[in-house]
This record gives sequence, structure tokens and C-alpha cells, in this order.
Amino acid sequence: MRDSDIEEHLDRVLFTEEQVAQRVKELAEQVDRDYEGKRIVLIGILKGAMMIMADLSRAMKSDVVIDWMAVSSYGGNMKSSGVVRILKDLDVDIQGRDVLIVEDVLDTGLTLQWVMRNLESRNPNSLELLSLLRKPKARENRSEAKYVGFDIDDDFVIGYGMDFSERYRNLSSVAILRSEQ
Ligand code: IMP
Ligand code: MG
Repeated sequence: MRDSDIEEHLDRVLFTEEQVAQRVKELAEQVDRDYEGKRIVLIGILKGAMMIMADLSRAMKSDVVIDWMAVSSYGGNMKSSGVVRILKDLDVDIQGRDVLIVEDVLDTGLTLQWVMRNLESRNPNSLELLSLLRKPKARENRSEAKYVGFDIDDDFVIGYGMDFSERYRNLSSVAILRSEQ
């Protein structure tokens, strides 16, 4: 999907396809360096992490295992409900493994704090979090993201996997939705 196809729905583009690709490449290089010689289990949080997972994993040179987890946090609207439920659990056993969670955006960061506590209880060798975007509240809440693509303001963003009521995930850039949507 091109920006121009939904121009009237957008406030503005925050990061172009090229800017996102460049930053994802840098993150992949950093992760490769940090995990040299290790096999990483990448855990994507569905569905928002679909694009960052696809691009990050392909940009990495490391040997990886990819798995997915689905949790409920936002009930189809723009507000966090604060209640986390596992809708789809992992297929792989992460005990003793080096695990990197891959996420699209941290807003309050509370969903991922819960996910990290849950995964920690399964005794991985290491557990870290990578998020393409981070909003101010997650920083205030001391969210434990080791890798962050971009720190952004407190706006609702769409595109590059991120949705509003399941739409706009296939936009190639990251954009701010017009508030009257
Ligand atoms: P948090 O628990 O407040 O950090 O947010 C939970 C989840 O809500 C994130 O992982 C995203 O999937 C989703 N989310 C938060 N902010 C946005 C946004 O601006 N656009 C689309 N999804 C969002
Ligand atoms: Mg998400």
C-alpha cells in the first residue's frame, strides 16, 4: 500500500519506507554483533510485529529460530485495556535459549512488561526486547527495551504492521492517523 492511496486518512508520514529500512538494518547489525556465535530465538508479538520481524530477521546474519506469540491488549480501539491474555502461545521451548522479543511499538510498555515476566518464568538463558518504536510513557515506565528503532511522541501511528481496527498494516511507511478516523 502506498501513502498516496490513503492520503486523506493520514495526518503525516513519520518515517518513510527508506528511513525504516535503514534503521532496521542498523538494528540487525547491532543484534548480530551482540549475539555473535549464538542461535537466537526471535519472538514476534502478533500481529503488529509482522513487518519488523520479516525485515529484521532477513537483515540479520545470525542463525535464528522464529516464533510468535499473540496477546490481547487493545480491544480494537486506541486505548490500552491493561488486561493481558495469551491468545497464542509459543511453539518452541525457550528454556536455556537466548531470546529476543520483537515488537512494533511500546506505548505504556505494560503489555510487554507482562510478556517479559511471563517468558522470564520459563528460564531462558537471556531475554531482551527490541521495539521499532517507543512512546514517552514506556520510557517513564522504565520499559526494559534494549533495542529501540525510534523514540516518538505520543501519537497514534499506523503502517508497517501497525493497525487501527485491523486496517493500514500494509502501508510501507509509518504514519500518524488523522484523529477524526
Ligand atoms: P502498551 O501495552 O500500551 O505498550 O501497548 C500495547 C500494544 O498496543 C502495542 O504493542 C501495539 O501493538 C499497540 N499499540 C500501541 N500504540 C499503538 C499505535 O500508536 N498504533 C498501533 N498500535 C499501537
Ligand atoms: Mg504490538
